[in-house]
Amino acid sequence: MKIAYSTAAPAAASHALVVFAGKDGVLTTAAATLDTATGGQVARAVKAARFDGEAAALVELFAPHGSAATRVLIVGLGDAAKADASVFERIGGAVAAKLLLSGETAVTVDFAGVAASIPLAEAAAHLAHGAVLRSYRFDRYHTTLKPKQLPTLTDLTIANAPAGTDAPHARLSAIASGVALTRDLVSEPANVIYPESFVARAQALKDVGVTIEVLGEPEMETLGMGALLGVSQGSVRPARLLVMRWNGSANADAKPVVLVGKGVTFDTGGISLKPPGGMEDMKWDMGGAGAVTGAMHAIAARGSKAHVIGVCGLVENMPDGNAQRPGDVVTSMSGQTIEVINTDAEGRLVLCDALWWAQEQFKPEVIVDLATLTGAMIIALGHEYGGMFANDDGLAAQLTAAGHATGDKLWRMPMGEPYDRLIDSQIADIKNVGPREGGSVTAAQFLLRFIKPGVKWAHLDIAGMVWASKPGALSDKGATGYGVRLLDRFVADNFEG
Ligand code: BES
Ligand code: MN
Ligand code: ZN
Repeated sequence: MKIAYSTAAPAAASHALVVFAGKDGVLTTAAATLDTATGGQVARAVKAARFDGEAAALVELFAPHGSAATRVLIVGLGDAAKADASVFERIGGAVAAKLLLSGETAVTVDFAGVAASIPLAEAAAHLAHGAVLRSYRFDRYHTTLKPKQLPTLTDLTIANAPAGTDAPHARLSAIASGVALTRDLVSEPANVIYPESFVARAQALKDVGVTIEVLGEPEMETLGMGALLGVSQGSVRPARLLVMRWNGSANADAKPVVLVGKGVTFDTGGISLKPPGGMEDMKWDMGGAGAVTGAMHAIAARGSKAHVIGVCGLVENMPDGNAQRPGDVVTSMSGQTIEVINTDAEGRLVLCDALWWAQEQFKPEVIVDLATLTGAMIIALGHEYGGMFANDDGLAAQLTAAGHATGDKLWRMPMGEPYDRLIDSQIADIKNVGPREGGSVTAAQFLLRFIKPGVKWAHLDIAGMVWASKPGALSDKGATGYGVRLLDRFVADNFEG
């Protein structure tokens, strides 16, 4: 989507036009002017639709007499005092969803008279951001779509735009490309995205100044990553540890924020094989790694002033003659031994070595991991919140705030010694599953055993957030890109001062 901002009034043009109404359907100057030009058609449409100006609600009016527009969308702003960045994003998303396949190629949004709770330049840029996010599609493997099934909208212009949109627009478009990268990685099938090809895609981050380093199996073997490699050993696709570095701080010695992602490029369950129904979803079991990679792109592309490192444990979990068996004992890089009760609880086995390595290597004060770790997380929270587990209240508050600000929402979950006891093993230091109850919590407790004293850590179980079965305000059904905006904001608000 091409975005333009013009301080001029909209030119009369035969394409789509957006005007706004506030609370109770009160027309903005732009909408009122159009109402006059069309002999009252705007007001009549608003009345007929019982439109009350609710935020992001929308009335569609076709080819009104007295205007060159092919169609007019009258869009609600809601209460001006509540019209923040997320409201403008939802508005942009609603406009894009309405027009994307409508036959319209261009839309002009008339900002005259818009009132917001944030600076108007921010409001305009967030509207455009919402439109860009919502118009993402993954059509790569469709070869027979009919013209009517293809997007037509290519241009969005904000007219009567406030001054100063350049800076917020640049920042938000960097973030939008990060989200798109994550969505691409998540959408791709597992015959296309596997550890080596994931790493190959991540090489593109060099273009925005990210340094890439990759560990192969021999290196991981030498390091003693028996847990991660145990998961990978049933697959013909070799594992990779992907490391992405962005040094944005003026202080070369600043401690980095470390982000760690679960990158299981396909999770069959291994020998503890999953049932066939829905197994295809496990192509997005690399959603944590996808979010970390997209976030690294966003952080670098907008020129973040923080040191941030992304580490992704990339493996494929397959059943095979060489696969690990239930009951196997593996030794993690930390030295702790793990009894693998269930080969389908593989994410924690990958993460424990990636987390340990990252702590040894970078000595971070803060480490955040993201993982599609448990089905139990989806049972607990559904698809509204990612689950957060943390060993530090301050870190938990920072992440909650970033989630609230961006819409990538988080809900904190409990941890504690009684849960920890449940993963003691009879034969080894720890076992990789607890009882069915509290399955997300015992998974988090497992990870905590690999966090060094004094390190602030949060684990985000995003199993319910990576993929959507129905369209949302800012994404169509499919990959959501959850986590990119969250991590970017978390870094921006807490590590760039
Ligand atoms: N990748 C899955 C978790 C998952 C399930 C994510 C459904 C998204 C949708 C994970 O590796 C897994 O299989 N977890 C098991 C753990 C169990 C064996 C203790 C689960 O949640 O069933
Ligand atoms: Mn699994
Ligand atoms: Zn998994």
